[in-house]
Amino acid sequence: MKTLCLYYTRTNKTKEIMENIAKIIGADVAEYTDGKDRSGFLGYVGACFATVNNSISIVSIKGEINLKEYDRLIIGMPVWVEGPCAIGRALIKKYSGVMPSEVYYVVTHMGAKHDYAAKIKAMDKLLGRPSAGQVSIRTKENDYIKESAVFAERLV
Ligand SMILES: Cc1cc2nc3c(=O)[nH]c(=O)nc-3n(C[C@H](O)[C@H](O)[C@H](O)COP(=O)(O)O)c2cc1C
Repeated sequence: MKTLCLYYTRTNKTKEIMENIAKIIGADVAEYTDGKDRSGFLGYVGACFATVNNSISIVSIKGEINLKEYDRLIIGMPVWVEGPCAIGRALIKKYSGVMPSEVYYVVTHMGAKHDYAAKIKAMDKLLGRPSAGQVSIRTKENDYIKESAVFAERLV
């Protein structure tokens, strides 16, 4: 089974997690982006504003990736303002038609709160079909690499 792990990252946590998952299951890995520099404090504030104003719609996948070549897709996205980030949602909206039937969501967040499940599942509306599974992983004060390994091992 050919799997692709896709991620958006601002501070590299989602990247680390998705690279770890890819290593365990033997998947390819690629990054998606809205092309904006969102580093530092100003980048954080800009991301908050863009989320609240619902102004993120442009997204692309870096490198030569053909989604149609894959049997399984795992999409990594950080939580921004209490839900999966708008760049991840834009990705699903744009590419859902060429995504494989088996799609998983890996959502990373900082807070201890763990009730993003409903908001993560709601992305199935953008996908146009039920996702295969989801996990949300806390990246602060948590061994997030270990938690991502537990998720990945279920998919081997
Ligand atoms: C604009 C913005 C909003 C965020 N909102 C939340 C939030 O509502 N809840 C939360 O737990 N973490 C929130 N975070 C923290 C990130 O979800 C968390 O640090 C994530 O693991 C970062 O992933 P990354 O390093 O791949 O960018 C927010 C981060 C940003 C940049």
